[in-house]
Amino acid sequence: MRKNVIVGQSGGPTAAINSSLAGVYRTAIDRGAKKVFGMIYGVQGLLEERYIDLSDHIKTELDIELLKRTPAAFLGSCRFKLPEIFEDKSVYEKIFEVLDKLEIEAFIYIGGNDSMDTIKKLSDYAIVTGHPTRFIGCPKTIDNDLALTDHTPGFGSAAKYIGTSMKEIIRDSFCLEYSKGLVTIVEIMGRNAGWLTGAVALSKGEDCEGPDLIYLPEIPFDMKAFCARIKDLLEEKNSVVVAVSEGIKLDNGEYVCSLGSTTDFVDAFGHKQLSGTAAFLANYVAGEFGCKTRAIELSTLQRSASHAASRVDILEAYQVGGAAVKAADEGDTGKMVVLQRLSDDPYQCGTEVKDVHKIANDEKLVPRKWVNKEGTYVTNDFVSYVKPLIQGDVSPVMVDGIPRHLYQPEELRTRRKTKK
Ligand code: F6P
Repeated sequence: MRKNVIVGQSGGPTAAINSSLAGVYRTAIDRGAKKVFGMIYGVQGLLEERYIDLSDHIKTELDIELLKRTPAAFLGSCRFKLPEIFEDKSVYEKIFEVLDKLEIEAFIYIGGNDSMDTIKKLSDYAIVTGHPTRFIGCPKTIDNDLALTDHTPGFGSAAKYIGTSMKEIIRDSFCLEYSKGLVTIVEIMGRNAGWLTGAVALSKGEDCEGPDLIYLPEIPFDMKAFCARIKDLLEEKNSVVVAVSEGIKLDNGEYVCSLGSTTDFVDAFGHKQLSGTAAFLANYVAGEFGCKTRAIELSTLQRSASHAASRVDILEAYQVGGAAVKAADEGDTGKMVVLQRLSDDPYQCGTEVKDVHKIANDEKLVPRKWVNKEGTYVTNDFVSYVKPLIQGDVSPVMVDGIPRHLYQPEELRTRRKTKK
């Protein structure tokens, strides 16, 4: 590389997103980049010229190791939708003015399907205007819903946390007896894709029977059938554990969480805030059966649990960061790095780059054949697909009994709001 690199993080964070940042930084330096800048709050911050020089924050090998183990987006993230070029050219002119000022050769964006929309638009603009900066997407999302990649960094660690927590919840739910039984409903993120919710099946093994029911968002949720299953299960056992995706919908397309909540928050990409599914169903079940219920929303715990990260995931996240820089250095633009599984046993995976136009704004869902006929559990094939991704651990750097993270940049610590 002869000039500089800029990297941003976008969308919902994961336990592995900073490992990709570390991979970008290290590879850019190794390939000769003079400076590696980090956008503060993604393109939204870049538009206000908010960026840092990463070498002010990553000074030693230990810093790299800490960064890999630090949850949440180190640089700050955003959910910012760029206008179409014909709608507002001035936004693009501003971004490219900043890129020129910083002498940026490669622009790397670590994000999910919405963030790949940014790479698509910026690379298109550069091609149309003959601008030399190259734009490469680096995959990231706990949702695992990116097209053309076997899986996404961030998913494996979240799946490991979810499988582990589910196992612990099931153990807890059996240790007290309630006269009319206990129904525990666990709500898991993933929006319209059930990859994460299905990961609860990882809890099943010799020492744990796993959850009783698993409801993915890909399959319409039938309240009547659900209640009938709960009734039967309560006749058989004292504790029933159900996993539901935050995004389960009724046959008419209405989110189950909307039945119980009045929150209408919608983000820049038109995604409704999904929360309250477990609470709604737990209340409903309590009303129907008079039993004790408990609603558990794993919420941000499942994407920030770096203390329980998967080693495979953290290493792959680092690898895709490096591959993104390499692709830009070799002349690619308008591409995203993808993971290609070469074999399951032993697990082997490599990287390639694919056209971002075929990835942006798309959603890869759980195939119907990986869910049972009744739509209440995932199959063994689903579990075999996920298992290699949760292997190995990354020991946290413990200080006073608590994991140590890389010190957050001042620009984020002050929690200043980005001006609108
Ligand atoms: O896109 C990743 C994700 O974690 C989804 O699973 C979830 O629906 C969403 O982000 C939550 O976003 P926010 O933190 O903006 O509410």
